[in-house]
Amino acid sequence: MARRLLIAGNWKMNGFLADSLADTLATLMRKKQDWPFEMVVCPPFTLLHYLGKIISGSGMALGAQDCHLKGSGAHTGDISPLMLKDVGCTYVILGHSERRMDHGEGDSLIREKATAALGAGLKVILCIGETEAERDSGQTLTVNQTQLKGSMPVAVDVDATNLVIAYEPVWAIGTGRTPTNLEIQEIHAFIRKELLSLIGKAAEGVRILYGGSMKPGNAGEILALPDVDGGLIGGASLKAEDFWAIAQQSPSL
Ligand code: PGA
Repeated sequence: MARRLLIAGNWKMNGFLADSLADTLATLMRKKQDWPFEMVVCPPFTLLHYLGKIISGSGMALGAQDCHLKGSGAHTGDISPLMLKDVGCTYVILGHSERRMDHGEGDSLIREKATAALGAGLKVILCIGETEAERDSGQTLTVNQTQLKGSMPVAVDVDATNLVIAYEPVWAIGTGRTPTNLEIQEIHAFIRKELLSLIGKAAEGVRILYGGSMKPGNAGEILALPDVDGGLIGGASLKAEDFWAIAQQSPSL
């Protein structure tokens, strides 16, 4: 099954109303209707509503970086999946390693959030990935297997239309280091095999993104790997020029 490349920008805790990043990207996107990739930007909550308007009609999608598991209620400081839908989000990133580390989020909470997000009609970009210590002790595959199994949404139909997996080795995030292309392909193929056992044939259509120090200089070869269906890009998504250069290396362009 053909999988359309997804180029996702994770802005993390960066960005202000006055910035021109989304506007520049939207202008580039509007130059053509049929890009062979899908593009999504995931700014901080404070920019979602405004950026939703800026990118409207550009073909670019809007995503958030987290959500609560409840629809509403007494949860000071939290944002619900329905609120994200309300401001125009179609995607939400869940289980990013920075949420796992900074906020102590574990697989079962991520699973509940993912289930709620899908229930609200959002598409989930579910992040998994091993730390450097886990890699060094030969646990890469088991850690990714455990995180995938433990954080997969339940009780809702999961398929290629609403689920994206992002493999992000923690040691590669923001460090300039990446696994070899062979390692990336092996892990992605492993994740797809695990997905097959979890959700059956639909796994063939689920996009598995690579994330961790992806930049214009390495994107072409990573995106060309058979089981890599796009990228979740942090640092390099903050410069329109770099993010666009990555998207332009989609194998079909
Ligand atoms: P990076 O971040 O591209 O800056 O390494 C990726 C991510 O954390 O999603």
